[in-house]
Amino acid sequence: MAETIKHNINCADLFPVPLVIDNLGESARELNKRLMDDIHIEMEQGVASDSRSFISAWQSEAGLERKYASFMELKKHIEACAATYLTHIRYADIPSVKCAGLWANCISGAGGHSMYHIHGSGAVIATGVYYPAALIEDGKSNKEDLDDFNPQTIFRNTGVGGELIIYDPGYVIKRQVIKPSGSHYYEALKEIAPRESLLILFPQYLPHSVEPLLDDRLRRYSISFTIEKSL
Ligand SMILES: [Fe+2]
Repeated sequence: MAETIKHNINCADLFPVPLVIDNLGESARELNKRLMDDIHIEMEQGVASDSRSFISAWQSEAGLERKYASFMELKKHIEACAATYLTHIRYADIPSVKCAGLWANCISGAGGHSMYHIHGSGAVIATGVYYPAALIEDGKSNKEDLDDFNPQTIFRNTGVGGELIIYDPGYVIKRQVIKPSGSHYYEALKEIAPRESLLILFPQYLPHSVEPLLDDRLRRYSISFTIEKSL
């Protein structure tokens, strides 16, 4: 009689990629207003960087936390978020990690976008973005309840452009496979819809870009940063 062969099958998900989704909600509405006021001051002064990835857009120089109290306050919130992230990924040396120079970005009108890029090298271990405003017409107030939040709803197309695109480092290889329906395992990118008070943090090795805005009436504001290990 033939033996009955029994399987003992287990599946492991290899190479996880952490992404922090932190909603500061209504508690940050006043901070957001101060950040926006300071970004506008910086834009009016004409201080801009010419060495970054945005096209048809304005980008500040790095280090706005040394210039504006609002940015220093945001830096502290980013570091609190980063501490949770570092615990999650079991990074052993949390006290030696700091948020480094914050910079602001503003895409104004149709066509403005950011090219495919990564942030930093060497001591940089993570990067991210904070949205001090929603993707709405400049100067309009955001009536949205910022505490009404489901983290899964950030992964969507806005219909008006301006999505943050985060690419799997195996993007090219994964795109050569017909993606099985409903499976996350061959997804090559994720698109994230900007939202006021949303803080996103991810490993520095993830390439990302920003889709072109599709509407001339819109402005897209964001604040970028890196998380660095002190050397
Ligand atoms: Fe970036």
